[in-house]
Amino acid sequence: MKRPVAAIEGLGTFSPGKVLTNADFERMLDTSDTWIRERTGIRERHIASPQETVAYMAREASVKALAESGLAATDLDTIIVSTATPDRPLPSAACDLQALLGASNAAAFDIGAACSGWIYALTVAESMIAAGASRRVLVVGAEKLSAIADYTDRSTCVLFGDGAGAAVLAPSDGTRGILGAHLKSDGTLAELLYRPGGGSVEPPSEQMIKNRSYFIRMAGREVFKSAVRSMADAADRVLEQAGLTSEQVDLLIPHQANIRIIEATAEHAHIPPERLFVNVDRFGNTSSASVPLALDEARQSGRLKPGMIVLLVAFGAGFTWGAILLRW
Ligand code: ACO
Repeated sequence: MKRPVAAIEGLGTFSPGKVLTNADFERMLDTSDTWIRERTGIRERHIASPQETVAYMAREASVKALAESGLAATDLDTIIVSTATPDRPLPSAACDLQALLGASNAAAFDIGAACSGWIYALTVAESMIAAGASRRVLVVGAEKLSAIADYTDRSTCVLFGDGAGAAVLAPSDGTRGILGAHLKSDGTLAELLYRPGGGSVEPPSEQMIKNRSYFIRMAGREVFKSAVRSMADAADRVLEQAGLTSEQVDLLIPHQANIRIIEATAEHAHIPPERLFVNVDRFGNTSSASVPLALDEARQSGRLKPGMIVLLVAFGAGFTWGAILLRW
């Protein structure tokens, strides 16, 4: 097993106070609590207020992560934000966060890998540390899915929630940290999960609003099948890379998209339910914030203990997917 070159030195999360329950959706749409729970495992999700912007949520999570790491914002040399829902198209969310934190010594950029984005960002951060290009990297997943969910489309809007998670990655002492990473994509399947409007092909227009093409569109069943297959494959590959087996994984923390995807992924990856972490019931799918939100809850609740081998897997629009193996 290779010695880890980078480790998470601080972790922080933020969830908006407002909660949207399945009962709330029953009042808004032709749906039911039973349907949503049985098909997705979701009971409620947090929804950001207009003041709770992506940059604001990212900052709240980052301040906690920095405090835990014992570093100041000025100690950071790189900020990487993963988001599919930046506050504005230009500049990056990472630059907004850099300004809010006063991280005056940091480079800042966004990564666009949708729900896999935090796994992508953590991998890039680890590689930068390994290459000597960076020493203190803030890696954030921050999302306001409620801004791009179509609340007239019952097959998508019930899935999503808002939130943020942040980690400070720094050189490891060799005993703990990232043991392996595997990233993959398949852009030929992009239109199974996408937002057609609002970019340079279909710029904002009256027609775009009428077509509702600003909102997320998804072919749920196809996404479901690809997600399970891809996350299980990524889990196998990262374990192989690190020379470990699924029996040696103490905790699997998958992207929290949907309980059926999560359970099927764990089964394909040969991880039993007692070594699987789930919080999708209370957060819904928060895209790239979901893995850090789950990781933070896992350690706060005592499920994740120092020395444990943790497998993080995610899948999202693109399609993109990936896995990270780490010793906590
Ligand atoms: N309430 C009640 N009925 C609904 C709802 C709802 N909220 N949504 C859909 N239905 C209906 C459909 O209209 C359809 O009705 P019909 O048979 O009369 O046409 C019926 O339920 C079945 O619809 P399907 O889409 O075939 O239902 P399915 O069993 O596939 O479940 C779901 C839909 C939950 C979206 C599922 O496909 C899924 O979980 N897919 C994965 C998608 C996902 O998690 N995406 C997140 C983004 S990607 C990621 O993060 C991995």
